[in-house]
Parts: sequence; C-alpha cells; structure tokens
Amino acid sequence: MSKKVAIMGYGTIGSGVAEVLEKNRESIARRVGEEVECKYILDIRDFPGDPNESKIVKDVDIIANDPEVSIVVETMGGVEPAYTFVKKMLLAGKSVTTSNKALVAEKGAELIHIAEKNELNFQFEASVGGGIPIIRSLNKCLTADVIEEVSGILNGTTNYMLTKMRDIGANYEAVLKEAQSLGYAEKDPTADVEGHDACRKIAILTSLISERQVDDRKIETEGITTITTADIDYAKQMDRRIKLIASSVRRPDDTFDILVAPFMLASDHPLYTVDGVFNAVFVHGNMLGDAMFYGSGAGKLPTASAVVADVVDMAKHPHRNIPVHWDEEELPIPDHREKTYQYYVRTANTGREILSAFNNIDFLEPTHGDPENSVFVTPEMSGREFEQRAADLHILQRIRLK
Ligand code: HSE
Repeated sequence: MSKKVAIMGYGTIGSGVAEVLEKNRESIARRVGEEVECKYILDIRDFPGDPNESKIVKDVDIIANDPEVSIVVETMGGVEPAYTFVKKMLLAGKSVTTSNKALVAEKGAELIHIAEKNELNFQFEASVGGGIPIIRSLNKCLTADVIEEVSGILNGTTNYMLTKMRDIGANYEAVLKEAQSLGYAEKDPTADVEGHDACRKIAILTSLISERQVDDRKIETEGITTITTADIDYAKQMDRRIKLIASSVRRPDDTFDILVAPFMLASDHPLYTVDGVFNAVFVHGNMLGDAMFYGSGAGKLPTASAVVADVVDMAKHPHRNIPVHWDEEELPIPDHREKTYQYYVRTANTGREILSAFNNIDFLEPTHGDPENSVFVTPEMSGREFEQRAADLHILQRIRLK
C-alpha cells in the first residue's frame, strides 16, 4: 500500500516536489507510516526523456476521478485555472497543498472552508517564505498569542538582486536574469520587482493573524524598480542597507497598518544582515514577545520541501481537518499615510528650494556618481505631511528609514 499523490504543474516547484518525494522516499514513508508516491503529473507540455514522463497527463479529470489519489499538489501558479482545478479536487474528496501565493491571497478563505466542510485539508506552507515554516508556526504553534506584528523580507528575488547590486555593483537587468535562471523569480518577474509577490505574502500572513480576508489590491505597495546605484551608495554612506520590507502591524481597533516598500535599514536592525535569497519573518506576539524565522525564501528545493511537509501532514491526517481560522469577511485597511517615518530623499532641486519645503533636514555628501542631485534625510513625519511638503519639488527618489 502507498499514498498516491498528484502534482498539477511541472515547472520549477512541481519538479522539485517530485524530486523531494523520490530522494527522501524512505524518511517520508517512516513519518507517514506508508510510502508516498506520485501517480500523476498534470501539465500541458510534454517532457520527453524526463524520468517522470510516464506520469504526465493532460486531462485534470483523470486525477479528479481517480479514487486512489488522496492528495493533490498545486504548483501551477496564477489564480486561473489553478482555482478551478483546486476546487474540483477538494470537491472530489482530495486534500490539496499549494505554493501559489496569488491563489491563496485571493481565494484562501473560500478554499479553506470547502476543505473544512468536506473534512479535508487545504494547506499552503510554501506560499510564504519558501522553505521557512511560517504558516504552520502561526497556525499551530503561536496559538496562545495575539500576534501584534508580522514583518519581514518576503521576496527572495529582490533580496538577491539588492544584495548583488550592493556587494558587486551588479547591473539591475543582469542580476534579475540571474535570479530567473536560479529559479527564484516568478514566471513574470514584474510580480517580484514591483512588490506584488511580497504584497500577496503579507496579505496571507495578515489574513492568518486577523482571521479575516485581506484584499491585497488595497495594500500600499512599492517595488525596487526605481532603486539606482546612487541610492545604494547613499545607503552605504549612512551605514544602511536597502531591503524590500513587507509589514503588518496591529492597531488598537484590530485593523492593521500594512505596507510593502523598500526601506533603508540601520545596521542594528534585525533584518539588516538578511542577504541573498534568504527571507526572514519577524513576529511579535503579546505574550511571546519577539521571534524571528529565517531561511531560504525561494528556489526549487526549499519551496518543494515546504510543499512536501504539507503532503506529509495531510497524509497523517486523512479525513481530519486541521482548522485554519480565516473568514471571508474583509479586513478594512486604514490609509497608510498616517504612519510616520524619516525619509531619505534624492531631488533635482537646489538646497534653497529644498529648505523652503523642509525644516531640520540633514544633507548627505554627493556621491561620486551623482554630483547633480541634492540628497537629504527628513525628520520623522507622516506620509501625508511628506506629500504636502514635497509637492513643489522634483523628487527623484524617496525611501523610508527604519
Ligand atoms: N518569486 C518568489 C520569490 C518565489 O522570489 O520570493 C518564492 O515565493
């Protein structure tokens, strides 16, 4: 006897799942109590010569209609047709695990409830933080706490890019191509560099800690596309590092301040040394205090490891739903411009023009490659105040400080 699994989507992560199931066959069998075997792989493409070629099917109903398959892995990416296929599998009585952030962020509540109603499981450990077990930690371990903050570096591609740009002066386009070839980036890497991937992940984490549905389209999101080598040099001058941070902080009324944006972190900030493809998630619980989760945030095998951990969990709990508290009611998201920060600003204005708009600012020394611009750091102010003061200036860049 063995547990039969199907994989939908034989790309980077899907092929990683097949590899993990094969390589760790014995230890997985020991943990589950029986062998776990991949029976089908759904993909529209052909894979001549691939060791799993004989398992490839092109009709999703072959999997849905096979009573032997009790667990399905979804690694296709994107909301459709993944959503239709995952729902079909749950309604056919199969538990599902997915690495698909877009699917979980948008349809998480609904799929969790279908699984619950049918005494199945819908799990999504790999959707946030690659191989870092953050979903299970929030859902199963930190259950004594009210979680007051979840913040971190949630995108491996951009962290890898920013690290290489800082350390070896790598060119943006070249280092993005490298992140793609290493299997870190999304099929359309715009989602990575414009912050949408990190945004979906913080939406998922916020849904888990608020127990309500977060509409990721309402989260203020900035990416790294406007960061130049000059900004990286100015950060070095201030002994800071630029990191794309996704953050969600509980307010007294149980709504959350949520933001995805590049920050210039001070050298004593806990995320300052998180480099390369690594992700880190900082959690603050009202009883726990601070905790930090750190590990490989993207890539074939780390992500597949998280998917297979869900497979093992679901194989050990057949027909027993592991509750996930996430209602369909939407969480209101307050206007982030009320929050106060210090800002690093690069402008094409003269010192006199700047001083008529901002008080108490510190000018930075022009860097070698950027003699034309004026660069300064503001005192702490709200986003709204910053917008008003900067309205008549020609702002080339502004990055929050932490
Ligand atoms: N493109 C994602 C990243 C993959 O770079 O973090 C992991 O979710």
